[in-house]
Amino acid sequence: MTTVVDRWNIHPDHLWLRGQRPPSPVEFDETQGLWNVYGYPEALEILNNHGTFTSNLAHLLPVSVDAPLLEGDMSQMDPPIHRKYRQLVSRAFTPKLVAAMESRVATITGELLDAVDGKPEIEIAADLAYPLPVIVIAELLGVPASDRDLFKKWADDIIEGFSGFSFLDDSEQGEKGVRDATERLRPLLDYMAGHVTERRRNPREDLLTHLALAEVDGERLTDNEIVNVANILLVTGHITTTMLLGNTALCLDAYPEVAAKVRADRSLVPGAIEEALRLLSPSAALARGTSADVEIAGQLIPKDQIVMLWLGAGNRDPRQFDDPETYNPARDPNPHFGFGRGIHFCIGAGLARLEGRIALNALFDRFPVLKADPATPPTFFPTPDMIGVNTLTLRTS
Ligand code: HEM
Repeated sequence: MTTVVDRWNIHPDHLWLRGQRPPSPVEFDETQGLWNVYGYPEALEILNNHGTFTSNLAHLLPVSVDAPLLEGDMSQMDPPIHRKYRQLVSRAFTPKLVAAMESRVATITGELLDAVDGKPEIEIAADLAYPLPVIVIAELLGVPASDRDLFKKWADDIIEGFSGFSFLDDSEQGEKGVRDATERLRPLLDYMAGHVTERRRNPREDLLTHLALAEVDGERLTDNEIVNVANILLVTGHITTTMLLGNTALCLDAYPEVAAKVRADRSLVPGAIEEALRLLSPSAALARGTSADVEIAGQLIPKDQIVMLWLGAGNRDPRQFDDPETYNPARDPNPHFGFGRGIHFCIGAGLARLEGRIALNALFDRFPVLKADPATPPTFFPTPDMIGVNTLTLRTS
């Protein structure tokens, strides 16, 4: 049977997306000089062992990243400092705040779909999957959602900048790549810095103000840290959710009988989203570094090595998931790595799930048919460590 991956030729180099397992779950890549981890139990062991597998990789990269850019970026921190920053952000970005967004997410979704009502086809990314998460996160932060075209331009620029080079390239070209990517971040950083300064003067009921006021052990975030945290929430928070919505639509298109079941029994909607996260994982890989010699799956990985955890491959490991290539929203349990695992587990998972559930229900309510059009095939983000729909045209009749 042709899978969703083969049908649209998603990431042709990723053989693990096509039911093939690499010979070993842990392999050294001579060309890149790093370790690839493809297995589920191995990735689980690594994600739960933050003592040996650090998230702070800067000292392992041959190219240097501008230090102020990393300030406040908890995804690159280890305990005990990680705990402090995670608490500071969690105090501002609470489950209560996310739950309170439910009716607003439904209203925004309704307005976006009103704009395309009656059209013979929709382009799910431009019409819904991009604007919904970006409007939601902009409203939460308290920056004007009407600036969303600017955010899109900046986010596209940033992705392009960071795709154009390798952090492992120590040549002049690698250094130039980092400088260029950093420059591309500048307009968004300056934009956010303006809003942070304004919030210091005039506090409001928004996440930026909460970030400015949140305290742990008597300490607050600096302005530069707030700018970086806000950028991470805005950029990583929306791109991944855009991919999740598009990927779910793509999976349902590839499995029409499953789609009919989910449409008829909406209690399957959350499962449809979880299973899309497993089968087409937006964050397909994470990087860690070894802070000591360590053995994983019988392989000795020396200290100070870079380890790429291929979450997308672990999510298809037959040792963990029965019939792993099949899209099955009723899969239970479904302990996929879509949002990571351990102390760095995604802080925005609740928001992404809420948006996914509301968007999918609204699409079913609004359109009796949602069918990909082979004449306008979907396009995907080219970055190898992200699996995600960039554009997807769906016929609605
Ligand atoms: C479908 C959507 C999303 C996916 C697939 C996703 C995926 C992930 C993954 C895999 C991690 C773990 C990183 C690691 O272990 O190194 C992570 C962490 C994180 N995510 Fe998400 N994410 C999504 C949505 C969001 C949203 C909506 C936000 C915020 C608005 C967000 C903010 C973060 C932050 C701040 C971290 C770092 C947490 C830490 O290091 O403690 N994400 N995400």
